[in-house]
Amino acid sequence: MKAVTWQGRRDVRVETVPDPVIKEPTDAIISVTSSGLCGSDLHLYEVLTPFMTPGDILGHEPMGIVEEVGPEVPNLKPGDRVVVPFQIACGHCWMCDAELPTQCETTQVTGEGMGAALFGYTRLYGAVPGGQAEYLRVPQAQYGPIKVPEGPPDDRFVYLSDVLPTAWQAVQYAHIPPGGTVAVLGLGPIGDMACRVAQVQGASRVFGVDLVPERLRRARERGVETFDLKDFDGEKELVAAIHDRTDGRGPDSVIDAVGTEAHGSAAARLAQNAAGLLPRAIGSKIAERVSVDRMAAFYTAIDLVRRGGTISLSGVYGGMADPLPMLTMFDKQIRLRMGQANVRTWVDEILPLLTDDDPLGVDGFATHRLPLDEAPHAYQAFQRKEEGTVKVLMQP
Ligand SMILES: NC(=O)c1ccc[n+]([C@@H]2O[C@H](COP(=O)([O-])OP(=O)(O)OC[C@H]3O[C@@H](n4cnc5c(N)ncnc54)[C@H](O)[C@@H]3O)[C@@H](O)[C@H]2O)c1
Ligand SMILES: [Zn+2]
Ligand SMILES: [Zn+2]
Repeated sequence: MKAVTWQGRRDVRVETVPDPVIKEPTDAIISVTSSGLCGSDLHLYEVLTPFMTPGDILGHEPMGIVEEVGPEVPNLKPGDRVVVPFQIACGHCWMCDAELPTQCETTQVTGEGMGAALFGYTRLYGAVPGGQAEYLRVPQAQYGPIKVPEGPPDDRFVYLSDVLPTAWQAVQYAHIPPGGTVAVLGLGPIGDMACRVAQVQGASRVFGVDLVPERLRRARERGVETFDLKDFDGEKELVAAIHDRTDGRGPDSVIDAVGTEAHGSAAARLAQNAAGLLPRAIGSKIAERVSVDRMAAFYTAIDLVRRGGTISLSGVYGGMADPLPMLTMFDKQIRLRMGQANVRTWVDEILPLLTDDDPLGVDGFATHRLPLDEAPHAYQAFQRKEEGTVKVLMQP
């Protein structure tokens, strides 16, 4: 089959690889009909390079048709249409019972000290072959895959794999009080969708910050009060502008949908590039031990949120020694929640919104639909934010 493989820093290629086969009784094989390209894939493209192995199959946002199931997958049969959550979880351990499938104790990558295995996401997360491919082996298929109805196009459901539950959890973890205000930093797919979810859930005002014109425009067209980072002379001015609109206090909640590759700090970029360019064994040690994150967005969140408010981190951070302004965080009495999205925990709440009247705008969410062969170009355009690329769906 054809698959999108990682070959090196900023080097992604479509290769022919062996078709996946059932290995465990709880496996299923699906033929992939759509597969998203995510901001998280960009970390692999660049910062997380030391944790990758050439040939790794990328992708963690797939949907498709069940081809084959193992003997312990009673819930699925060939022909079923399914969306596959980006994390692999068993559904019956202590953590899954506690609605924390990202911490699943059956699939935790204990050798690396990490949580649940993820599709297509480095050896830290189990080096599981990903879903930007013609076929995908789905472990723990007795729990993960979400059955969806025939009929509507893939766009209606594919975001259940990641974007929708991630944005949903970002808003849940943001603890926006009834009728309260929220600022969303970063208007990529996750931030954009988090704005939509906050609106649907009744936030009175949603502020959005980015620096890419078409991303700002997308949000503005849906009623978000947008701020272009480029219009401000430094973070302080931006914070002051949003404080002006919130009685001088700041929004009740701030969602960081940027993560480790934020614009704004040149020194950290050097450290990241250095870690990415070193021989892999040494590079991974450095990436594990030092601060590799560009913290600009998180620092903005700390300054921006009102006293006693909440910061919800969806953006992925990966450093082990990132400096934090504890004096300010403590004094402002900030509540902080973060982590990978617990996909299955939120799906039942989201599904009723995936209807024909489409309150979250999923039908028009993708900016690009491409065959797998165009993946190398799509990665580059998405990373550089060129050609209006916001959300790419690959269609094998
Ligand atoms: N928690 C989860 O389960 C989960 C799931 C999916 C994605 N993510 C993470 O969420 C983040 C966003 O993902 P995405 O797909 O939207 O990616 P993306 O890279 O397209 O979005 C990031 C956006 O932030 C903007 N940005 C950069 N610096 C900024 C700054 N200082 N202030 C404001 N905006 C800034 C960029 O222009 C871009 O539009 C990534 O870190 C990704 O890894 C987390
Ligand atoms: Zn993703
Ligand atoms: Zn589990």
